[in-house]
Amino acid sequence: MAPWGDAKLFFCILFITCCCTVTLAQVPMDCCLSVKNQTISQRLVANYHRQASGQGCTLAATILVTRSDFKLCVPAGEPWVFNVMKHVDSLRKHCKKVKYQGIRCTGVKPE
Ligand SMILES: *[C@@H]1O[C@H](CO)[C@@H](O)[C@H](O)[C@H]1NC(C)=O
Repeated sequence: MAPWGDAKLFFCILFITCCCTVTLAQVPMDCCLSVKNQTISQRLVANYHRQASGQGCTLAATILVTRSDFKLCVPAGEPWVFNVMKHVDSLRKHCKKVKYQGIRCTGVKPE
C-alpha cells in the first residue's frame, strides 16, 4: 500500500505545481488597481499600454508611460486619453523613422 500512497502524493504535488505555474503565468505583472482622471501633458508621455478587464486585471484602464519611465493609470474611455494615445502613435512613428535619435525621442523605446 505504501508505494501507491507515495505515487498519489507525487502526482498530487505535480498537479499543484502545474496549476500554480499556470495561474502565475496568467497574472500580468503590473495591473492598474485604480485609475485617476489626472491629465498629463502629452509631451511627457513616451508610450502607453491598454489594460483590458478580465485578463487577470479587474479593471479596464490605459497605462501612460512617461519619458522617465513613470507609469500612470488613467481611465480607458476619456477623450483626453485618446488624444494622448494619438500623439504617442505619431511620436512612435516619427522616432522609428529617425532610429530613436534626437531629443523628441527621449524615453521612446522600440517595441
Ligand atoms: C476627466 O478629466 C477631463 C479633463 O480634465 C474632463 O474633461 C473630464 O470631464 C473628466 N472626467 C471625469 C469622469 O471626471
